[in-house]
Amino acid sequence: MPVKFYQPENQVPLEMHKVRVVQKLALLPVEERLKRIQEAGNNTFLLQNKDIYMDMLTDSGVNGMSDEQVASMSIADDSYAGSETFNRVKAAIKEVFGTENVLPAHQGRAAENILAEAYVKPGMYTLMNFHFTTAKAHITRLGGEVVELVDKKGLIPQTDDPFKGNFDLKELRKTIKELGPEKVSFVRVEAGTNLIGGQPVSLENMLAVTDICHEFGVRSVLDASLLQDNVYFMKTREPRCKFMTTKEIYHTLADRFDIIYFSARKLGFSRGGIITAHDKKFTDEMMEFVPLYEGFLTYGGMEVRSMEAMAVGLYESLDMEYISQGPEFIAYLVKELDDYGVPVIKPAGGLGAHLNCSEIVPNLPHDQYPAAAVGAALYIAGGIRGMERGTVSEQREPDGSERYAELELQRLAMPRRVFTLSQVKYCADRVKWLWDNRQLIGGLKWTYEPKVLRFFFGRMEEIGYWQEDLVKKFREDFGDSL
Ligand code: F0G
Repeated sequence: MPVKFYQPENQVPLEMHKVRVVQKLALLPVEERLKRIQEAGNNTFLLQNKDIYMDMLTDSGVNGMSDEQVASMSIADDSYAGSETFNRVKAAIKEVFGTENVLPAHQGRAAENILAEAYVKPGMYTLMNFHFTTAKAHITRLGGEVVELVDKKGLIPQTDDPFKGNFDLKELRKTIKELGPEKVSFVRVEAGTNLIGGQPVSLENMLAVTDICHEFGVRSVLDASLLQDNVYFMKTREPRCKFMTTKEIYHTLADRFDIIYFSARKLGFSRGGIITAHDKKFTDEMMEFVPLYEGFLTYGGMEVRSMEAMAVGLYESLDMEYISQGPEFIAYLVKELDDYGVPVIKPAGGLGAHLNCSEIVPNLPHDQYPAAAVGAALYIAGGIRGMERGTVSEQREPDGSERYAELELQRLAMPRRVFTLSQVKYCADRVKWLWDNRQLIGGLKWTYEPKVLRFFFGRMEEIGYWQEDLVKKFREDFGDSL
């Protein structure tokens, strides 16, 4: 629980760890930043890490490792089959989720591929609170369709609803009935809804989803990649969870969902991916795809040292002093911005802070990509790299028309145990400056648009010369500062 300060005005989230290995950062002059973002096609994925001061692109695979994780890596067992390392991963999963059956995959999306291969057929539907890019891409690739059933409140940018990732249960029941349960490949709950602001799902809602699935005989799948943040929110926002231990929450979920999978780049502060289930029937149905796509059943494409770090990281995701760090730093940044009037998704969720770009640049239409424009502007303003989570991150419809995102967000991810509070304050300061100068931000247009997952490698250019004007204004306001 947060440590209380003597002087309330000094209250800040307190790190419950100290930094023992450091990485040097660079902050380039603003003129250089302009050059770098233009060379990167205004796509923050194409920036080089050496040119970035705060890398807030993602919380995936970039979390701070603990001393115990680093130490564990030296005992990794490299044997191709029957590795002791895999047994330690299984033991950690048994402790955290209580499940016995474990399939390894090289990362979360590989688990999604296996799930889709096993259960998605053309003409079938996968029902979700909200899609995630890679989960959807694997399903549609195999001819399946995704139906999103998040409660409408989840799409309102600013509310005080504590669980904006919740399923609309009425709609879920109605949709299964209308489609027919045999047409539903599975129901997927994303615990910590990535694309709508890392918003959590309540325990009550998740259990109700599994009840409906059992009633209709439909498979239930939990994407637990962001579950550690979600468990923090359950503990702090949901009365029935207050007196449950974190382990009781993880176990309650695992007892009810047929299948759990996760990206260990998030859950477990490491790298890799896992599928786990109580019932061997499910892992048996998916097993054949592991050696085909990933690697043998005791490593699944993962590097053994990452597996050791994952095992230790999983135990750490039971520890509230560790799992509170991400959400508390995010809440701090969100409050700083909100108090200043910057439109951010509220309440603060997991994963990162999310700028609501439709309100920052209300005059930019979806097809001038407001969220991407704000991302490019923020790199120019502060050497800060966020990620577009708006229309660029959508896929075009089969007829080639643009699918406009429900929310045009610029995500500022908060890798866990990585940034200090002064860096978070710097980030808030530069965003505030950008907000005060938002009238300078203009649109972007494609110069190269890939067909699949275009947000990864697409390239864009500014419409007009607004980026040069932004640099000029920066020099006026900050003098010769970096
Ligand atoms: N599910 C969720 C909820 C995710 O956020 C991610 C990844 C995945 C699955 C896929 O896992 O990356 O290990 O293949 N999210 C990252 C992000 C990429 O930056 O939001 P992966």
